[in-house]
Amino acid sequence: MNIKDITVKFAEPAEAKYAELIVRLIYESALQRGTGIAKRTPEYIAQKINSGKSVVALHGDRLVGFSYIESWGHGDFVATSGLIVDPEYRHLGLAGAIKAKTFELARLRFPFAKLFSITTSLPVMKLNSKMGYKPVTFSELTDDEEFWQGCQGCKNYDILQRNNRRMCLCTGMLYDPKQPLPEAERPNPYTMKLKNTLKRVLHLKR
Ligand SMILES: CC(C)(COP(=O)(O)OP(=O)(O)OC[C@H]1O[C@@H](n2cnc3c(N)ncnc32)[C@H](O)[C@@H]1OP(=O)(O)O)[C@@H](O)C(=O)NCCC(=O)NCCS
Repeated sequence: MNIKDITVKFAEPAEAKYAELIVRLIYESALQRGTGIAKRTPEYIAQKINSGKSVVALHGDRLVGFSYIESWGHGDFVATSGLIVDPEYRHLGLAGAIKAKTFELARLRFPFAKLFSITTSLPVMKLNSKMGYKPVTFSELTDDEEFWQGCQGCKNYDILQRNNRRMCLCTGMLYDPKQPLPEAERPNPYTMKLKNTLKRVLHLKR
């Protein structure tokens, strides 16, 4: 398999037909990883596609990857979410290509917004850090209720609530277009992942 055979592009309404497959891929991967995940419905995903807020990766007419963006706090923040790569297409650099495309989409549609993601995934920490994101506490992210309500479907939601939304098992990462982190100061994703794991073991999963 060669990444050159795969097209990564802004999704168009015709691609809403993949919504159920996307939900299934996200759900099955979360089960396999044993991590929490904000549950999404096919309707929600289709709406992201129809409103021009998604990126798809296609191998011919097979959907092999996806991610979407959403703005929060009246457009002050944009979250990149729902990143998924079909298990048969992993380790080709596809997540990197999808991330780059969602970044482009977010910067085009919301040029003044800060970008963020919350994640437990080492590959995502690596990609974010390469792009100039830095790890932050949740207090630096959006305070938009609706965003945090999206965590309700996650199995770790009780932890978020118990900590008054200040922290959870995910690491928050933020890209500020006014101050992208210079390369020399970019955080080490392995250290971030280690902290993330320690947090789970020592403090939170009591
Ligand atoms: C996470 C995921 C999107 C990565 O997709 P991918 O196409 O295989 O990733 P890439 O090939 O673009 O690799 C991106 C980086 O992560 C690294 N990476 C990929 N899988 C990894 C793994 N399992 N463990 C550690 N590092 C990994 C790669 O080496 C690469 O780093 P590098 O640029 O320093 O070499 C994919 O595994 C997936 O869909 N997982 C399930 C859903 C998920 O976890 N989504 C994120 C939710 S926040």
